Amino acid sequence: MPAISCSAPGKIILCGEHAVVYHQPAIAIPVLSRSTTTKIFAHPESAKGEVIVRAEATHLFGNMDTLSLDDPIRRTVELVKDHFKINSLPACEIRISSTLPVAAGLGSSASLSCSIILALSEFLGHPLPVDQVNSIAFEAEKFHHGNPSGVDNTVIAYRRPVYFLQGTLVEFLTVSAPFHFIIGNTGIHASTAEAVCGVRQRWLKEPGKFDSLFSEIGLLSQQVRGELAQGGQSEVGNLLTQNHALLSELGVSCPELDHLVNTALQAGALGAKLSGGGLGGNMLALAEEQNTRQVEEALSQAGAISTMQMTLPASTEE
Ligand code: PMV
Repeated sequence: MPAISCSAPGKIILCGEHAVVYHQPAIAIPVLSRSTTTKIFAHPESAKGEVIVRAEATHLFGNMDTLSLDDPIRRTVELVKDHFKINSLPACEIRISSTLPVAAGLGSSASLSCSIILALSEFLGHPLPVDQVNSIAFEAEKFHHGNPSGVDNTVIAYRRPVYFLQGTLVEFLTVSAPFHFIIGNTGIHASTAEAVCGVRQRWLKEPGKFDSLFSEIGLLSQQVRGELAQGGQSEVGNLLTQNHALLSELGVSCPELDHLVNTALQAGALGAKLSGGGLGGNMLALAEEQNTRQVEEALSQAGAISTMQMTLPASTEE
């Protein structure tokens, strides 16, 4: 039997992280050049229920039953089994590979979940529609992050730029001209759960101050949505830089992120900000096409352990 192979992209948050947990809108775009791939090989000669897991990045190789119940791969597989109301899987090997850095704000955990859900449902003969992939991935995210907004699994499951507001229908963004981004990785592994928890503790101490920071960020997301639709490059840039300042006030930036953000701005970026949970991980900068190279070089020289360019293309008519 040929192997089943399904991939899910990464993502980057343009605007609104953290505030989105407090019911403000956020904007996220898929990073299609990076992905997690899950391949499933049937092992008809093995006993029913015997599932081998191989994940290169984490040097994991073994029987699924030997993995901790907290293991993200095992959790996601269990969620799929629950969805289909089955106790065991046909014997198989689940092989996972990824080109996404872990704990860097590029959505590695949601990408992992989505790729497993896609592959496993196909392996079971019932490929799931995108909304169901999204809702199972959201359950998996809850396990990783405690109280996720759902933005990561949504943008990754749908593979389209989204304007995301918890509890409402997903809105896909209209983008009228290409936007060029450079992503720079501080190299600092950061826990989204820790960052989200820190914000919550500070919000509980000063709810008034934090509620108004969240609202200001929500307003920026609304403005970014409008400017993407208008092709307002420098306007979006300004809004992203303002978002970084507000994220710093939330306490989720760090000297290394601030340094890369300032470096990008000095190198001619139209705007720059941390992206994702913060406390490390990635930042992004928006630049005019002719300046992307110089911004990327400046970020590398300033200590980014890796950089990549990414273009958000103009929307096509559906
Ligand atoms: O997964 P990350 O680190 O890219 O960030 C997730 C975005 C947060 O707003 C910080 C958390 C959430 O659940 O939306």
